[in-house]
Amino acid sequence: MEDGDGVASARMALLDNGSLEMVKVVYCMVSDINLEGLDTVKTGSCRRFFGGRRLWRRRIVENEDIKKSQFPDGFLFGTATSAYQIEGAYLEDGKSLNNWDVSIIFKVDDADIADDHYHRYLEDIEIMHSLGVNAYRFSISWARVLPRGRFGEVNPNGVLFYNNIIDNLLLKGIVPFVTIHHHDFPQELEDRYGSWLSPLMQEDFVHLAKTCFKSFGDRVKYWTTINEPNLFSEMAYIMGKYPPARCSAPFGNCSVGNSDSEPLIAMHNMLLGHAKATKLYREQFQAKQGGFMGMVASAFMYEPLTDNELDREAANRALAFHVAWNLDPLVFGDYPPEMRHYHGSELPRFTPEEAKYIKGSIDFIGINHYSTLYAKDCIHSSCIEGGDRAIRGFAYLTGERDGVPIGEPTGIPRFFVVPRGMEEIVEYVKKRYCNMPMYVTENGYAPPKQEAVQVQDQLHDVKRIEFHKAYLASLARAIRNGANVRRYFAWTLMDNYEWVRGYSLKFGLHYIDRQTLKRIPKLSATWFQNFLTNSSFNNEQVVNTSSFTGKNVLISGLEDKKTEI
Ligand code: BGC
Repeated sequence: MEDGDGVASARMALLDNGSLEMVKVVYCMVSDINLEGLDTVKTGSCRRFFGGRRLWRRRIVENEDIKKSQFPDGFLFGTATSAYQIEGAYLEDGKSLNNWDVSIIFKVDDADIADDHYHRYLEDIEIMHSLGVNAYRFSISWARVLPRGRFGEVNPNGVLFYNNIIDNLLLKGIVPFVTIHHHDFPQELEDRYGSWLSPLMQEDFVHLAKTCFKSFGDRVKYWTTINEPNLFSEMAYIMGKYPPARCSAPFGNCSVGNSDSEPLIAMHNMLLGHAKATKLYREQFQAKQGGFMGMVASAFMYEPLTDNELDREAANRALAFHVAWNLDPLVFGDYPPEMRHYHGSELPRFTPEEAKYIKGSIDFIGINHYSTLYAKDCIHSSCIEGGDRAIRGFAYLTGERDGVPIGEPTGIPRFFVVPRGMEEIVEYVKKRYCNMPMYVTENGYAPPKQEAVQVQDQLHDVKRIEFHKAYLASLARAIRNGANVRRYFAWTLMDNYEWVRGYSLKFGLHYIDRQTLKRIPKLSATWFQNFLTNSSFNNEQVVNTSSFTGKNVLISGLEDKKTEI
């Protein structure tokens, strides 16, 4: 891409469309970034548009047979996992109890053993190697490396474990992408000061990050500081479903918490923790270690429930209050103008000093994309389930229009199979953030829960193959359209501990026998392997039972009214 591309396309949109309503323009600088000579981003000003109307267009999705060769040279494909979801060994070799170990609320299973990855990591790396992936995204268990946070010593066994993983990945030619924090932290930090509700957690996070840079940074070049602060804030502090399980009505019935304000505070502390860790990396490690820093946001796509201007604005707000809440501060140094507009004093402010170092504190954007939802306006009409609250951006989110789901339902109520959403969310992030390097850090499928489903049926996971094919085809279209996406990680390597849903929800390319913990490849693993080696795959068994491709729901009536941010 060339200098100023993002700015140029924004101007084009304005010229093409006289009706674009641009309320506010903010400028940002994006610095030169060069990742292995692949990801060159312009230096220049990046405009943030606020209040414009989005592009909703008709798109016919062909039943494309996606090929690896449709992705740019140097594109990395990997699998992703997170520490708590697979490691087990919950009290071994010096690890302390973390927030999930002690949580009892909403828990159906525990992760004491999980996939026993702690003892079987070599086998798991071998599995990845035979799949043919060239990247692996995993996270560090905070309680394993720093069992008492800043209040105790580094656990050498924890460091050794991740050193072994990193070394063995590199031996197999697999690039490690390390997430420093993915939902789990030592319980002591909750007990001492309330974890992410306190600014003290920023210091603990920086301490963890520094320990990681020192211990692993000679070999790790790609860091993401925190996984999905937006989703974690929502689940832990709006819905009260993740520990510390805090919330208030109408979102939930927790004994403590305030769903309108606490998620904003938790997010603020995570963003500042991230920014301080990045500052430290850039000042003390980057010159020598030469790595890159990013953050991963949960990135649902939102479409208007009806062809009504108010619902279009609601969809824009939903994007701002979900995705841009997380990403705007990292690029522009402040929360989205949409949030400033609708929130009162409860939306924290960055001091001028903080704004300076949070702005530009990422080298790449990570997005976890699974699903698309409809958004309905709640400013001018009444809404249920908290849609009429500022914390939700006055948007009611639903997966159904007139009783018809937006895409095929999955094992998670708000996850629907909507392949076009991948292209749309990538386009949104590309436009809003000047097409800086973007990685799809998670994307995957879990089938609806069925009673007494046979193992053979779980192994014959045709729908998962269809899902990845359709979403990859959608991603390839976004890339052809100029999006600077450089990596794709399938969620997930193997069935795991799916947080509050335990082991019943299965996203894996490999099946885990819960009795023996044996890893068994599903059909999707074979498909992924063939995809990665550009080999042919017997498509018949997939095509004949395909239910996703070609069924990409059109937004009727919206197709000709092109508007753009
Ligand atoms: C999280 C994963 C989780 C996945 C599927 C993502 O939000 O990062 O940890 O397993 O969604 O639920």
